[in-house]
Amino acid sequence: MKILILGGCGYIGTKLTNDLLKKNYKITVYDTQWFGNYLKQHKNLKIIKGDVRSIDNKIFKNVNTVINLANIANDPSVDLSPTLSWEVNVLSLFQILNKCKKNKVKHFIHSSSGSVYGIKTEKKVTEDLELVPLSIYNKTKMISERILLSFKDDLTFHSIRPATVCGYSPRMRFDVSVNNLTLQALKYKKIKVFGGNQIRPNVNIIDISRIFQHFIINKNKIRSGFYNAGFENLSILKIAKMISKFTGAKINILKNNNDPRSYKLDSSKLLETGFKPKCNVRYAIEELISMYKRKKLNDNDSNYTVKWMKKKNIK
Ligand SMILES: NC(=O)c1ccc[n+]([C@@H]2O[C@H](COP(=O)([O-])OP(=O)(O)OC[C@H]3O[C@@H](n4cnc5c(N)ncnc54)[C@H](O)[C@@H]3O)[C@@H](O)[C@H]2O)c1
Repeated sequence: MKILILGGCGYIGTKLTNDLLKKNYKITVYDTQWFGNYLKQHKNLKIIKGDVRSIDNKIFKNVNTVINLANIANDPSVDLSPTLSWEVNVLSLFQILNKCKKNKVKHFIHSSSGSVYGIKTEKKVTEDLELVPLSIYNKTKMISERILLSFKDDLTFHSIRPATVCGYSPRMRFDVSVNNLTLQALKYKKIKVFGGNQIRPNVNIIDISRIFQHFIINKNKIRSGFYNAGFENLSILKIAKMISKFTGAKINILKNNNDPRSYKLDSSKLLETGFKPKCNVRYAIEELISMYKRKKLNDNDSNYTVKWMKKKNIK
C-alpha cells in the first residue's frame, strides 16, 4: 500500500512517517523542508523536496492514501503572511484534491484543527457545533474543510481536528504548550504562565500518529467526516503544575494573556469508531524530560515556527 504524506518532514509528519515505515507501508514524503529533514533513509521511503503549491500530478500516481500535513501551522506564523497561508492551507488543497481525483486516489486524511470552534462554553464541544474561527489560521482550517466536503463524491476523506499535540518527535516543536512549558522548566527551572485558567485540549503525539493509522486501516469502514482528536482538557496552570511536580521548577503566573482561546474538545465520535487512546500529557512530559537528560532534544530557532519563518524570510 502506497501513502503520500504532504508535510511529512514536520513535527507530526516525522513521527507518523517513522511509525508507518515500521508497519511496512511504502511512503513518499513531499515537503519544502522549511524546518529541516530529520527522516532517515529507508528502503520504503522516498523524500521529495517541493512545495504543494506546485506539486506535480504524477506524484499522485498509484497512491492509495494521501495525508495532508503541509500547512502554515499556527496563529502567529499565519499572521506573518496571510497570503502565503491562504495559498498553502486552502488554495493548494483544491489543486491537490483535483490531482487526487484525476489519479483516482480514493482516500484522503487531512489535518484540520480543534481550534476551528473558537471560544465555546459548552461542556462538550462536539463536531456538530457551529464553527466560529477566531484567527486567520482557524479560518483557513474551516475553509479547507469546506473544500474537502465538495470532493465527498470522489473520495473518502477523514478530517482530523487535533487538540494541541505534545510529546517527542525527532523534529521538535517547542511553540506548542506542553513542550514549551516542559523545556522552560528544564532549562530555566522556571515556568512562565500567561493567565493560566484558559482550558485547552491536548493529545499525545503517539496517539495522533495512531489516529492516522486507525483511519488508514479502517478507511473503508469509517465514514467521511470531521473527527475531534483530543482526550485531556486541561488548564495551562494545571499543565504547569504537572511539569513542576516532575522538574521542581517554580511557576510564575503573569497577568497579560492576549490569547483568548479556551475550549474543551469531546472526541466521542472518534472513540465510537473503535479508537482507544494509549498515552497522555503526563507521558509526554516524562518522555521529554528523559530525552532532554539524554541530550536528544534539539533546541534552536527552527523549533519555533514563527521565529524561524521570520529568520528565513518565509512569507
Ligand atoms: N502540532 C499541533 O499541535 C497541531 C494541532 C492541530 C493541528 N495541527 C496541524 O497539523 C499539521 C501538521 O502540524 P505540525 O505540528 O507537524 O507542523 P510543522 O510545521 O512541524 O509541519 C508542517 C510541515 O509542512 C511543511 N510545509 C509547509 N508548507 C508547505 C508547502 N507549501 N509545501 C510543502 N510542504 C510544506 C513544512 O516544511 C513542515 O515540515 C498542520 O496542518 C497543523 O495545522 C497541528
